[in-house]
Amino acid sequence: MASPPPDTNAASATTLTPSTSTIPDSSVGGDTSLQYWGSTGAYICGMLGGIPDVQGFSPINKIDLQGSRNFLAKLGIGLKQDRRRVKTALELGAGIRRVTEGLLLHVADEVDVVEPVAKLTAALQGKPGIHSIDNVGVAEWRSREGASYDLIWIQWCLGYATDAHVVDHLRRCRAVLEPENGIIVVKENLSTRGEDILDETDASITRQVI
Ligand SMILES: C[S@@+](CC[C@H](N)C(=O)[O-])C[C@H]1O[C@@H](n2cnc3c(N)ncnc32)[C@H](O)[C@@H]1O
Repeated sequence: MASPPPDTNAASATTLTPSTSTIPDSSVGGDTSLQYWGSTGAYICGMLGGIPDVQGFSPINKIDLQGSRNFLAKLGIGLKQDRRRVKTALELGAGIRRVTEGLLLHVADEVDVVEPVAKLTAALQGKPGIHSIDNVGVAEWRSREGASYDLIWIQWCLGYATDAHVVDHLRRCRAVLEPENGIIVVKENLSTRGEDILDETDASITRQVI
């Protein structure tokens, strides 16, 4: 089962397997992840790894989104008068549009969505503010011709990509970032156990804090 959303400090209700050595790339992401997310219910609790069902953690979605709003507000992005909206945003690993609808569509005029499991983004088709939906993973994603983003939001999905794919991906993101004020936000879980942790259920890696 997937670990809790980043930045929540939630106790994990999942079984994680600490790796004693470097986790092989072949264990990360791929079909195991896609099958896991393809068979997960397209609802918020499923997307949050079942954490909202754990006693005391039901408001986790709200807390996560509010934390993100507060973070963007510090960068001058938001809805209040002294803050600005952005024109274009890109979201990676969007899942069932929890962050798309709960955050990005409120602060951006147009959002491009990337998510490998098509059924999770189906309900975004034709929604005002959604500019494009690309059903691929971060390793396969390539920006469309002429794209430029004020805000790139990457949350809780890089654990399904190998280190090399993450680095390549971030380079590709940088190449389409609006040069003056563009921002890339990466919001991922980190391991404080002094080692990377592999969750074999969804083939995700929680990288250690360095
Ligand atoms: C824990 S959910 C998080 C979804 C969303 N970011 C959120 O915070 O609500 C993980 C998402 O990553 C997606 N995912 C799996 N493999 C991926 C990959 N290689 N690249 C991008 N996203 C991937 C899954 O399909 C799933 O929607």
